[in-house]
Amino acid sequence: MAQRTFSIIKPDAVRDGYIGAILAAIDKGGFKIVSLKKQSISKKQAEGFYAVHAGKPFFDGLCEFMSSGPLVLMVLEKDNAIADLRKLMGATNPANAEPGTIRKQFAKSIGENAIHGSDAEETAAFEIGYWFAGYELV
Ligand code: RTP
Ligand code: MG
Repeated sequence: MAQRTFSIIKPDAVRDGYIGAILAAIDKGGFKIVSLKKQSISKKQAEGFYAVHAGKPFFDGLCEFMSSGPLVLMVLEKDNAIADLRKLMGATNPANAEPGTIRKQFAKSIGENAIHGSDAEETAAFEIGYWFAGYELV
């Protein structure tokens, strides 16, 4: 059954000019783009989004990075979208990512790793609702 997931092309990949290449990989992966917007976010907005990581040693740097420049927020849809996007993204640390994955091709480091994807149904629902209003998803 068609499933929705939430994804971000992170500020490093936007700065490096990889929006088009990453969208092409997402398209080739069979995902439908339900909604997409390029914008900058505040550190506060990043902290709310990553609240599950609050208190971890990388939390402040992560939120600083996510608010350091424009990014692309997306809702994607396909059968098994959540797991399939995670597979297409590759491991969190690009050094460990499989060849052909987005992080292997476009990410620099574990902290600046090009793309985000929801990791479960509940987090996808929270993340879609955090960034998109209902009228943006029709
Ligand atoms: P994301 O949430 O961005 O899709 O990445 P993920 O599921 O693969 O990784 P997660 O554990 O949720 O961590 C969120 C982001 O925090 C940064 N991180 N840095 N220095 C570190 O040890 C460390 N661990 C995580 C990464 O940028 C990761 O994407
Ligand atoms: Mg995560």
